[in-house]
Amino acid sequence: MREKLPCYASAAFGLEGLVAGELRNLKLADVKAENGGVRFSASPEDLFLCNLRLHFCDRVFILAAEAVCTSFEELFRLVFSVPWQEFADGSEAFMVSAKCARSRLMSPRDCQSITKKAILEKLKKALHLSVFPEKGPQLPVQVSVHSDVVRILINTSGEALSRRGYRTWNGEAPLRETLAAALVHLSPWNPSLPLYDPCCGTGTILIEAAFMASRIAPGIRRSFVMEQFAPFRTLPFSVLRAAVAAEAVSPALSVCGSDIDPEAVELSRRHIRQANLTGTVRTETLPFQQLTLSEPKGVFICNPPYGERLSDQKSCRLLYRDLHALLLRHPGWSMCVISSDPAFERSFGKRSAKKRRLYNGRLECTYYIF
Ligand SMILES: C[S@@+](CC[C@H](N)C(=O)[O-])C[C@H]1O[C@@H](n2cnc3c(N)ncnc32)[C@H](O)[C@@H]1O
Repeated sequence: MREKLPCYASAAFGLEGLVAGELRNLKLADVKAENGGVRFSASPEDLFLCNLRLHFCDRVFILAAEAVCTSFEELFRLVFSVPWQEFADGSEAFMVSAKCARSRLMSPRDCQSITKKAILEKLKKALHLSVFPEKGPQLPVQVSVHSDVVRILINTSGEALSRRGYRTWNGEAPLRETLAAALVHLSPWNPSLPLYDPCCGTGTILIEAAFMASRIAPGIRRSFVMEQFAPFRTLPFSVLRAAVAAEAVSPALSVCGSDIDPEAVELSRRHIRQANLTGTVRTETLPFQQLTLSEPKGVFICNPPYGERLSDQKSCRLLYRDLHALLLRHPGWSMCVISSDPAFERSFGKRSAKKRRLYNGRLECTYYIF
């Protein structure tokens, strides 16, 4: 096994810079952000720590190969050139997925089957096997073809890192955990100030803020597919996990929220319980039009409804005006709001001091800070 592997951390558009910043803070080498992700170099141990610790990243991959391929022969040769025996010992099954865009190789199905054939041929040759049984744990491989450049990526995370393990019930329009963490990170909040989400829904923003302030690694309560890769089985996963868990602290925090919908508040309480944050994060049922807090300073962070359907637009815009009234009732507070509505500032009735383009799934949004 090579000591350092070329790696790739995928991220939603707009979050690549934040992922690069986290990788640099973790002292990883060769960090370079690009559209949709960040390249870096890491040892297998570092890869495990990235899976545990990264807040804004979707998945962490080993970049097994990359080259321009314009024919299936070239694709086969590229995949065959990868030393697959470094990652597999014949006791696994390969799960290959493919995505193609703006390229001569435009059939994901063919790219998928050729990649799988090349992997199995290479392993049979390297491990002196006559058949490859394809039984055992699944090793996920992703083929990405974009503008004729093929990347062969080994997924070390398994399911997306936004699945922290505390959210088992979804509300109407839940925010992805990675984006919620980014909203907290990009806000002026620090743990010495109160944080309040007046449209808290299932509680994602509040939970992510409490994780960050308490130095609870976002991946600490889930597993990663790399833990099943045969050559990695000797890595001290439980020792690394315990060391990261031991970094958690219990600062005095004021992290609270409310929502008009009692069912959403019930879900938020379940999630808070499942995140082991009962007593740290509190939520209640309340329309924010009735909310008045006593603390002279603090930060509101919220993800209100966007009014995607025309029929909802009018009521959402009235809600934005009411959010401004909430801020006016709390003159020492900041207000941070994400919305896809291009008329947000007009409806709110004030220009933001700062704004940033972010994506909520496929929806282009702006994050406003007042
Ligand atoms: C997009 S969802 C928020 C999702 C949340 N970030 C999560 O992770 O689940 C918008 C929320 O605003 C709430 N809402 C709408 N009008 C409200 C009001 N007047 N007061 C409080 N909450 C309101 C809705 O009930 C809904 O839960």
